[in-house]
Order: sequence, then C-alpha cells, then structure tokens
Amino acid sequence: GQKAIDELVRADEGLISRSIFVDDEIFQRELRQVFARAWLFVGHESLVPNPDDYFVSRMGTESVILTRDRQGQIQVMLNSCAHRGMKLCRYDHGNNRTFTCPYHGWSFSTDGKLVERPGELVGVPGHATHYKGELDKKQWGLKTVAQVVNYKGAVWATWDPDAPPFLDYLGNMRLYLDAALDHRDGSPGGSEVIGGVQKWRVKCNWKFAPENFIGDLYHDISHRSVDIVGIGPGGGRGRRDPSVTRSAICFPELGHGLLGRLPFYEEGPYAPQYARYPEVEAYYREVHERRVRTLGSAMRVQTSVGTIFPNMSFHGRQPRTLAVFHPISPTEMEMWRMYLVDKDAPEAVKEAARHYFLRYSGPGGMTESDDMENWTGATEASMGAMSRELYFNYQMGVGHAEPVPEIPGCAVNGEYTEENARIYYRRWAQFMNGWSWDQLMAGAARAKEQAA
Ligand code: FES
Repeated sequence: GQKAIDELVRADEGLISRSIFVDDEIFQRELRQVFARAWLFVGHESLVPNPDDYFVSRMGTESVILTRDRQGQIQVMLNSCAHRGMKLCRYDHGNNRTFTCPYHGWSFSTDGKLVERPGELVGVPGHATHYKGELDKKQWGLKTVAQVVNYKGAVWATWDPDAPPFLDYLGNMRLYLDAALDHRDGSPGGSEVIGGVQKWRVKCNWKFAPENFIGDLYHDISHRSVDIVGIGPGGGRGRRDPSVTRSAICFPELGHGLLGRLPFYEEGPYAPQYARYPEVEAYYREVHERRVRTLGSAMRVQTSVGTIFPNMSFHGRQPRTLAVFHPISPTEMEMWRMYLVDKDAPEAVKEAARHYFLRYSGPGGMTESDDMENWTGATEASMGAMSRELYFNYQMGVGHAEPVPEIPGCAVNGEYTEENARIYYRRWAQFMNGWSWDQLMAGAARAKEQAA
C-alpha cells in the first residue's frame, strides 16, 4: 500500500523518501493534486506576438494551446478535440484563425466577435444533415483553463477556479521574478525569447530540476570542469563573480525559493564579464547603471537562480533564462528552456547571449549535461525495491533559517543549505495531502498580518 505522504516527506528532519521520485501512484496523485491545481507557467507572450498566433505548451502531462485571440488576449485551452479527443494542433507553433480537427473536421474559435467564450465549437461538418441541427455547439467547446494571467510577459494558468489570484500565489517571491522578467529597468514587456524554445527529455523525475534551481549551490562541485574550460558569459574562466556572496532565500508558506541577495543590500559595483566583446560590455554596464538609477532599493534584488512552485525556474541576472520541467512519467521529464533578452538590445548583445546559452545551457550546454547525468543517475539508482525504501538526506542547515522582517513571509539561510529544498517538499506534501486553498494560503496570510 501507499505510505502516507507525511511519512514520505519528513521535511523538518530533512528526510525525503526516494519513492516520491519513482513511484507511479505518487505520480498519478501529483498530476491531480499538484498539476491540476497549482498556477503553472505556460510560456512567454513573445512566442505569440500576433493575433491568431499559437504555441503548443504543456500543463502537467497534457498538451495545451497558448494562443493570442483576435482581440489580443492570451487564451489557454486543452489541445484535444471535444468530439473524440484528437490533438488539434500538431505543430509546435503557428498561426490559425480557427483550430480545425484533422479527424472529423470540427472547428473551434477564440475570436470574441464570433464566440461568447474562447474555444467555442463553431464548425461541425454535417451539422444540419447528419446531426439534424440537434447538436448543441455551445456545450462542446474546448476545455479552457479556469484562470490565465500574463504577468510581465510570462503567461501562467491554472485549471482550478478556486486558486487564489496569481500574485497571491507568488507572494513576495514577486520581487525576484520581476528581476528576471524586467531586468533592465523594471519596466514590463521589454523582453523576448530568442532562438525558439529548446525542448528535450531527461530520464529523471521532474522534481530534481526545480529542487536544483531553488537553491542547491552545493552541487556546484559537479560543474568544476565547466569552470576549468571557461565558458562563462564572456568566454572566460569561472562562472561566478567571487566578490558576490549570496543567500538561500525562501518563502516557506508558498514553496518558492532562490539563491540571491536581499533587496536592502546595495547593488554591487558592475562586474565586467564581457571584456572580449566591447559592445556587449558597454550595453550590460549601461543596463546595470540604469537599474541602480531607476529602481528603488526594494527593487534592487539580485537573483541567480530561483524556482516558483511547482515546476518553473529562472536565471534572474543577465543573461536570463526561463525553464519549465514537464512531468512525463515518474522517471522521465521534458525540460524546456527559453532564453530572454531585452527586445531592443543591440544585435551583438543578442548574438553573444545566444552563443552563451548554446555552450552553457540547453541539451548541448555543458552545465546542463552535468546536471542531467546527476538527475538521471539518482533516479535510476532509486528505482529498485531496496533503494526506494530509503530516504534522501536534506539535513544541511536544519533549524538555521531566519525570518527577514522587511519582507513578509521570507526566510533566509546561508549560501550553502538545504532549507529551500525542505520548504519546497513541505509545500509539495501539502498539495499532495489535498489541502484546500484556504489551508494552503493561511500561512502566507498570517505572515502578511504579522509583518503589518
Ligand atoms: Fe475531432 Fe472528431 S475527433 S472532429
């Protein structure tokens, strides 16, 4: 039988059962309790710049269509025909006025001039003859998400009508997500995804990746070869500015976390990284100075990497990336990376970023290859009858997190700690235990009150 979730996730003690990374029953429950309820990242607005553009995304194991309707609104719908389920969009992206099913030809529209709600059924071959006009088209539209939000260009959706507004779900993690989405000067909408979306499958449980991004600086040791080879942003050795120390910052009531610096630190001096590319160097220096000038100290946060529960992560400093980890099976995920650049940056800057992304991230990038080896190895070695009975160790820094009085709901620990992973799995257990939204959001509400 399935052990109670609380027995599998003993976050306070730093013990997480290996079975939550390999077990099929757990996986099925995750799809219902986590992916059918939480706010999920589905894409970036720059992937669908024009009316009728669509981009095929995923929510959990399901294919969804992210589209911009003729009125300019972003819509998200299940990519499955209401008649017999055929996948409507079989390309990764394109431009369609209506979505017509290849199986029997039903068609669906998002045009607000034609339909009352997005995804309505507008065309049925033989409606008057074969169906004798009796089919109620209004009843057979595409399933749309319950809520969708375009937050500074990043599109989020949830299937759950009772989910709280996205900004409540995000809480004060917003400070750090903002740093990634409008890095330059805090003005939204200034970013675009370049080079398309890189997608690849990894034979590991999906949770390894967001856990890595939420604040596992400890694993840096596995990237040592990368540091020696020298593939930093400017092509030099080392990947980090050694003068900058970071902290593991987390939002325990919400399950989000990051490695970065708190806002009330002074923004450090500009650290040159692109000595070999003067034009790129000049641009990043100007961006840095503009940030310092334009943003109040509360906005001057620095994020290296962070995770929004459950499966979205990002790099918050230039060059910036957004990542999402889609579950495929207990032991396989599909990883997507999107590379963000300032829309109006000079071509040379975009080009340098593109080269950096290719050698650093993505399926062929050197850091990603290191991580993939670790995650697939750990997944594979936890599948056996003996190994799945064991617990992973997350005991680094238990009991050492301190609240951050200036930021309600925020806690901070040292650079090296497993606190962020513990709060992530504690959140996961709450979803898995079927907590109501009232229960799930009570802690965040309390933290807000206490701070007020
Ligand atoms: Fe789409 Fe039949 S499955 S029209």
